[in-house]
Amino acid sequence: MASPSLSVVLLLCLAAAASAVLSPPTFYNTSCTQALAIIKTGVAAAIATDRSMGASLLRLHFHDCFVQGCDASVLLDATVPNSERSALGNAGSLRGFDVIEKIKADVEAACKKKGNSRAVVSCADILAVAARDSVVALGGPAWDVQLGRRDSDTANVALANQDLPPPFMDVAGLIKSFGDKGFTMTDMVALSGAHTIGRAQCKNFRSRLYGEDNIDSDYATKLRANCPQTSGDGNLAQLDDTPTTMTADNFDNSYFVNLQLKKGLLHSDQVLFNGTGGTNNTVNNFASNPPAFSSAFASAMVTMGNLSPLTGSQGQIRRICSKPN
Ligand code: HEM
Repeated sequence: MASPSLSVVLLLCLAAAASAVLSPPTFYNTSCTQALAIIKTGVAAAIATDRSMGASLLRLHFHDCFVQGCDASVLLDATVPNSERSALGNAGSLRGFDVIEKIKADVEAACKKKGNSRAVVSCADILAVAARDSVVALGGPAWDVQLGRRDSDTANVALANQDLPPPFMDVAGLIKSFGDKGFTMTDMVALSGAHTIGRAQCKNFRSRLYGEDNIDSDYATKLRANCPQTSGDGNLAQLDDTPTTMTADNFDNSYFVNLQLKKGLLHSDQVLFNGTGGTNNTVNNFASNPPAFSSAFASAMVTMGNLSPLTGSQGQIRRICSKPN
């Protein structure tokens, strides 16, 4: 038999790296008993001070995992070559870095052995748990977060620009972007339901307000007031139009009901329900069946958290989340 070619060997190595297996949620039970409780408390405190932070923490985890896997690369700051913070979808938009850094400091203060400078809990795991705890704190579903991710010592801004889907994407592009990461169409629609919480800047939905017709006219009028055609790039609107401020940032299935009403904020939201695409049925299902959305979202978040993690002796456990050791 001919020996396997170099490319076959390379492929096998890549497959092995991509399938690195995480550990159960008990991973820190001996090395850092309080880790999960400290993360939960830190998230609760941040949300109590500013409810909008929950959405930002969820998005951080997504933008981490979509770029070279869930390795906390998104947290490396501008002093690190190729920092992802300046990527198109991240610059002037991502927030929550300080919240994660504070949680990390609290966790390490509780768990680092005296005289040992080695950190114990990875920033990537903290992000994954903080995303889950944020969703739960805002009324959404819970899921078990597998643990044992390690942190990268590199970032990749070019990959961030390539892999993070922009808000102007059509449904085929969204299906491909998520499909490339191993998600089904149903996963992609469920994950888009994250836009039941959080905000977007005018520059990201202006072309929809002034150029598209599959938008509810009262909704468009209301949004145009705070998003003029030529100014106000950074003005914010709720991603999920909510009837009262009471329900803002509640994690529920109203995002899908609003898509049925042509009240999706981003182009990439409304294309999931445009009358023709194969995603319409899934939107209808999630709009009428909240438990179906909850369980699809939770299961897709587990898949997201498993994207190409560094495990075992790969990578490192950073001492602080914004810099490699
Ligand atoms: C389907 C493709 C997606 C696109 C095109 C997209 C795009 C965007 C854009 C443009 C914003 C507003 C950013 C700004 O204006 O500063 C945003 C916000 C947000 N996205 Fe997505 N997103 C997508 C999927 C996801 C997924 C999968 C999640 C999480 C599971 C997510 C979670 C969020 C959250 C929570 C916010 C609000 C952040 C905040 O208020 O700080 N998004 N997204």
